[in-house]
Amino acid sequence: MNIGIIIFSHTGNTNSVALKLKYKLSAAGHSANIERITVGGEYRPGSKNFQLKIKPKVDIYDALIFGAPVWAFSLSTVMKSYLMQIESLKNKKVACLVTEFFPFKWMGGNRAVAEMKKICESKGAVICGSGVVNWAGVNRRKKRINHVVEKLSRILHV
Ligand SMILES: Cc1cc2nc3c(=O)[nH]c(=O)nc-3n(C[C@H](O)[C@H](O)[C@H](O)COP(=O)(O)O)c2cc1C
Repeated sequence: MNIGIIIFSHTGNTNSVALKLKYKLSAAGHSANIERITVGGEYRPGSKNFQLKIKPKVDIYDALIFGAPVWAFSLSTVMKSYLMQIESLKNKKVACLVTEFFPFKWMGGNRAVAEMKKICESKGAVICGSGVVNWAGVNRRKKRINHVVEKLSRILHV
């Protein structure tokens, strides 16, 4: 399967999980490609004033993993804006990956996943799974990353 791992990552956390996912999916015989959404101009995280510079195309992929951080208890505005601009995800298998700092359910991870799913479904995607990685605590984080990478790669393997 040709899988696009399309991410926005400001400080590199989401990107580091995406790299592990790519490795895992490639080892399972898939073609997995990471593409990064970028923002132009003098952008500050959390600001609402921005323009997307690189908007990866989705049509070449059979399945997609969208990955992004939580900002202010919600999906980061950059990923939200990117997803809103995609024309169609009709019949594409989609998994959602979110990273956040705090290990509490109410700190935004679940809400960010729900926001991602809602936009993707509105474009015709078939949502097949999601994962949240909390960054706090090195050992906890490692376990969480392994769990989420395992889970998402299995979901898309079917
Ligand atoms: C502007 C901003 C807002 C954030 N808000 C939250 C938040 O509400 N909850 C949380 O757990 N982490 C929050 N974080 C932490 C990031 O979600 C976390 O560090 C994430 O892993 C960063 O991913 P990245 O390195 O791919 O950009 C915030 C970070 C930034 C820069």
